Amino acid sequence: AAAQRQQRATLTEVLARAAAAYGEELRKSPRAIAYLKQRGVSGAVAKRYGLGYAPEGWHKLAGVFAHYDDPLLEEAGLVIVQPEDHKRYDRFRDRVMFPIRNVKGECIGFGGRVLGDEKPKYLNSPETPVFHKGRELYGLFEARSAIREHGYALVTEGYMDVVALAQLGFPNAVATLGTACTPEHVQKLLRFTDAVVFSFDGDAAGRRAARKALDAALPHAQDTRSFKFLFLPPEHDPDSFIRAWGRDAFARHIGDAVPLSRFLLDAASEGCDLGTPEGRAQMTHHARPLWSALPEGLLKRQLLGEFASLAQIDAAELSEFWAQAQHPAP
Ligand code: GTP
Ligand code: MN
Ligand code: MN
Ligand code: MN
Ligand code: MN
Repeated sequence: AAAQRQQRATLTEVLARAAAAYGEELRKSPRAIAYLKQRGVSGAVAKRYGLGYAPEGWHKLAGVFAHYDDPLLEEAGLVIVQPEDHKRYDRFRDRVMFPIRNVKGECIGFGGRVLGDEKPKYLNSPETPVFHKGRELYGLFEARSAIREHGYALVTEGYMDVVALAQLGFPNAVATLGTACTPEHVQKLLRFTDAVVFSFDGDAAGRRAARKALDAALPHAQDTRSFKFLFLPPEHDPDSFIRAWGRDAFARHIGDAVPLSRFLLDAASEGCDLGTPEGRAQMTHHARPLWSALPEGLLKRQLLGEFASLAQIDAAELSEFWAQAQHPAP
């Protein structure tokens, strides 16, 4: 365990050193600075998030670390070793770099964005002993005091969403790291607040992400907590929306965000014609696993009543039906 702690400490030191070097490179790169300027990123917010630039070239980190063949660089996900010939090269090249910090403020990984339209658009650090995508939230370290002050957290999909929201008045935003929102993500946020607003992209992928976030939130939906879902117009994400329409317009969307109960009822009813007995029966089957994921409490009781009234049956009867062992897959 002590050896493991030591390894983790060494990895975060290596990553911090790389973050500092990428920060230096950004100051020296007019191209990267121009890219961030063109996206509206201010110097102040770039500093808050420690943004950097990984320069072009295959072995730039050889100028940062004394031993480019140090296995730690590979373990940290900074250097890739080719399996065939054991040749090494920098993972991140010609990308704007977003250091990812854990809640202690240690650098545990990076996201890197191309400056143009090349693919892949973003490259993340691989899973390492210190970096687990399904558990970490981008910007949580930077946002944690604002989350407490504002009384809620905003969860977005992207690095640039966090940066733009922070710059334009919402420093309480975090992002999942290109993965679906998990129950562990929600758990982590709940250490700082009991209110979460999910704000994903307005496109189809964003809607799917919201649906995943609902699944992640359900087991945590105790009566004293608040989960809401903000739906943006299809052509926008939080970054593009707030830059196009401003802070107050985004605040209005937060005000209109849909509570978990509403989203849950809609999710269960999706594709079901509640005007027919068939549709109501189908909805009842879709609803069961969702409702079952809720923790015991008044909200769960309330929702039983809501589902029963949608199904046009008695709540006790619905409860009894749901409790029966045999159910076809929804
Ligand atoms: P911008 O174009 O910089 O505004 O990106 P975005 O954050 O709006 O990207 P998008 O909505 O397409 O994707 C949301 C998030 O998914 C990104 O912030 C990344 O974390 C992740 N993502 C997007 N594209 C890729 C990719 O090509 N590879 C990986 N690994 N992750 C990606
Ligand atoms: Mn692990
Ligand atoms: Mn998207
Ligand atoms: Mn975007
Ligand atoms: Mn987006």
